[in-house]
Amino acid sequence: MQKIDNLRTVLDGDQEKAKVLVVGGGGRCHAIVDALSRSPKVGKIYCAPGNAGIAAQAECVPLKDTQVEELKEFALRENIDLTVVGPEVSLAAGIVDVFRTDGLRIFGPTKAAAVIESSKDFAKQLMEKYHVPTAAFRTFEDYGRALDYVREGKFPVVLKYDGLAAGKGVIIAENMAQAQEALKDMLLDARFGKGRVVVEEFLAGPEFSFMCFVDGEKVWPMTVSQDHKRAFEGDKGPNTGGMGAYSPVPLITDEDIEYSLENIMKPVAAGMVAEGRPFKGVLYGGLMKTPDGIKVIEFNCRFGDPETEVVLPRLESDIYDIFSAVADGTPMPELKWSPKSTLGFVLASNGYPGSYEKGYAISGLDEALALGDIRIYHMGTAAGNDGYATAGGRVLMVVGFGDDLKAAQAHALKAVGCIKCDNLFYRRDIGWRVLK
Ligand code: AMP
Ligand code: GLY
Repeated sequence: MQKIDNLRTVLDGDQEKAKVLVVGGGGRCHAIVDALSRSPKVGKIYCAPGNAGIAAQAECVPLKDTQVEELKEFALRENIDLTVVGPEVSLAAGIVDVFRTDGLRIFGPTKAAAVIESSKDFAKQLMEKYHVPTAAFRTFEDYGRALDYVREGKFPVVLKYDGLAAGKGVIIAENMAQAQEALKDMLLDARFGKGRVVVEEFLAGPEFSFMCFVDGEKVWPMTVSQDHKRAFEGDKGPNTGGMGAYSPVPLITDEDIEYSLENIMKPVAAGMVAEGRPFKGVLYGGLMKTPDGIKVIEFNCRFGDPETEVVLPRLESDIYDIFSAVADGTPMPELKWSPKSTLGFVLASNGYPGSYEKGYAISGLDEALALGDIRIYHMGTAAGNDGYATAGGRVLMVVGFGDDLKAAQAHALKAVGCIKCDNLFYRRDIGWRVLK
């Protein structure tokens, strides 16, 4: 099995230490498990369901992220001190509410607060009410009305399905035919379930991800990062769950961050309190630096994926203390970040985000890790005959550290070069906006 350079040895003394359960199973959860494993306060880590790579750093529990009642039973039975939730589906299923009813400590927003992600319409109404800058919009349930509105407006136009659609519910329509097809999908054929559509003004500019720890009105910013959503180099091809990321983002100045904190994240956190939906957890602002200033593209109610895989490795503070401060409402330690940059490549199965095959052997991970200053997060792997095999669309994320982004990119690329598998592709241009 893979040797992880920062794998903790579970010693007898760990009896005194916290038992933590991480809910989820992709690269984001691997990065959370990895960060927790660096805390001297954390003993045993469980991950449900986890994956083959996570199993090197945590005990995987065969429960799905939506089996909320079973997860609660597990946490009660194992005397889990703290549960940390990765995916939005668990939050939208009310895992936090269920755990809290039984007095369990859990890091994440309630179902009522998670709507900031699960309903695009709710998020847009909130931003309008609290004067948070975002693209102009209208919401429709009726296909004919939506079509009339789009016909009278400008192209491109952005059409967003109002509900969770695994990052695939957003269409940028260049013309009437594309808009009609997308609206038909979303409102007539109910491809994602019966819903509504937010029709939004198209904005242009670089996007960045601003994740903050939030407890009610209190907001603590993390370092910023940038995702690459399109499948192919040059930002071509279909939208994916994310093909790579880096941190920090030199295009985004300290003033931009200050502006985003004061005019976007803090008013939204305060707005959620005022709406009777106080938010606890990670509030993720998907922001765009447009010629008219920074505007919100979307909010998520959780850590971003793959952003977490480049942000948490830079965190030097104890993440257990941070999670505890938010979960318990106790003082937050100072958030310290490594001055090093991180940049990560996602290795995905050929065909992703469409259909793809599984079960291809992966080798060379030990060689890649032996380079040092490399993290490999497993997104979709399974234990193979002799090591790991591919088991998902996105399979691995290889993250390199460097004194600057260029060095981080070169280092991560070297590590990617060590990894052998017959069915993986990746984008070589991660970081292109800042690394010409
Ligand atoms: P979302 O799921 O809302 O983040 O949308 C997915 C992607 O669609 C975003 O990361 C943007 O690249 C793009 N997008 C969403 N809304 C807009 C908009 N109003 N203008 C331009 N691009 C957008
Ligand atoms: N990287 C975008 C997301 O986590 O939704």
